Amino acid sequence: MTSLLLLAAMFSALFIGQSLAVTSCIIPPIRSSGPEAAVIFVPGASIDGKAYEETGRAIQAATNIRLWVALTGNYTLNTPNPLQLPAAMRGAFDKLQKAGMKGENYVGVAHSLGGVFLPSYAKDSPLKAVVLLGSYLTSGNSLSGYPKPILTLSGELDGQTRITRIALTYKELVNDISKTPSALYRTPVLNIKGSNHAQFASGPMPGIVARYDLKPEISDAEAHQEIGEHVSNFISVTFNLCKVDQAKAAISGAFTDAGTRFQPLLSVKAMDKTGDSSPWSVRAQKEVAADLQEQLTVKNKVASNPAFTINKPEFSRSGDKVSVKTYTLIDYARNPIDVSTIPESPTELSVKLKSYDAIHLFLTGDRSTGQDDSTCKQLNELAVSIAFDASTPDAKRRYQASNRPIILADDICTDNGFSWSTQPLKLVEKDDGLHVQSVAMKVSTRSILFPGVFYCKLLSPYRAMEWMNVDSLREEAPRGLFGK
Ligand SMILES: *[C@@H]1O[C@H](CO)[C@@H](O)[C@H](O)[C@H]1NC(C)=O
Repeated sequence: MTSLLLLAAMFSALFIGQSLAVTSCIIPPIRSSGPEAAVIFVPGASIDGKAYEETGRAIQAATNIRLWVALTGNYTLNTPNPLQLPAAMRGAFDKLQKAGMKGENYVGVAHSLGGVFLPSYAKDSPLKAVVLLGSYLTSGNSLSGYPKPILTLSGELDGQTRITRIALTYKELVNDISKTPSALYRTPVLNIKGSNHAQFASGPMPGIVARYDLKPEISDAEAHQEIGEHVSNFISVTFNLCKVDQAKAAISGAFTDAGTRFQPLLSVKAMDKTGDSSPWSVRAQKEVAADLQEQLTVKNKVASNPAFTINKPEFSRSGDKVSVKTYTLIDYARNPIDVSTIPESPTELSVKLKSYDAIHLFLTGDRSTGQDDSTCKQLNELAVSIAFDASTPDAKRRYQASNRPIILADDICTDNGFSWSTQPLKLVEKDDGLHVQSVAMKVSTRSILFPGVFYCKLLSPYRAMEWMNVDSLREEAPRGLFGK
């Protein structure tokens, strides 16, 4: 979604001086009595305001509140933007009051790119709460620091706003709840099983959504009904209106359900780095140590440069305990404006390990084992199986049916430290799958320089899992302006 942010920012310059032709449509309440509230929709980029009519009606159907719906639209280039948003909202407040709405229980509901702009507007506006559909508070804005209640509602099969991005927001909420349990109701982060990005709206989607989105496993009507229930519960709790205990129980249940999809992702993400070490790198060193692993304690430090370049893996002995200290450098794709189409997981882990021969030599004093045949590719195979094993049964089934596997090529071998550190892990998305090739540097224990090191450019198990859970489910590699 925010891949359109830059484009929208460029276009924003064009809006200045233009007449602000934003409009809104009002859908009156379907209930004749009860407390009143209104949801005011902000569309995604290139999506018509009226594409949210069915979503709005589903919220009305789910709630006992006398709920008004306003759909804003007709933004310049059909794309919501910070310059026109205030006028669109003023127009909606006005129209709602003229149509007979009582009170000012306004909730802003934004989809996709609309959700990038709504939160900053909403802070100092008549809106009392915010709902983000297939969208999120971008980095630098915390849930706990946000001044108004905010519901983040995501789809399991959203190919535009990947579930791995929303998993970060979910994790933030879990931390908040441990300090302030009521955060669950003030800033819930929920997930609809089997729904995609387009299903927050209805009708045809713009090309960019179609290119990235995944195939849903529930119908549009089912998706809308679930959106309706979540938003209705959030509104009841936010305004303390009707059946609040029931609404709280439903939010709590939905949060637990969302956790069954977010937690597996987060548990594998934690293998990249927990505290200041990399559990995946520790696991990789143990794998290399094979039958000797019981005799060895593996430590790891995630370093950044220049420390990573300078450090070498080292053995130490205290009493009869032998340990090896390993080093890891983690690289991510640059993503300064928190774009949701860029993978969340690392592009590579550069890991400095000791070879099997080196471990054998240190433990036994015996130099040649004839057994040192481990490769970085084998470790990457392990990353793939860790990712698969940790995925939900649904994710496993989808990945197996996808025909876009992770394809591991033999290592590129080098004996030159400079060449090893400057060649990245190859990670190339093609229509037939994700092609991965490691760069390996294994040096003999007899060498004068770097004796016994085994350096690998490793695939992150989380990257493998993100591929399985998101990218592999597209029929082909996304193409076009914001494609590859
Ligand atoms: C956009 O403008 C058209 C033409 O004036 C109008 O029919 C439609 O209702 C407007 N859409 C919204 C969401 O206000």
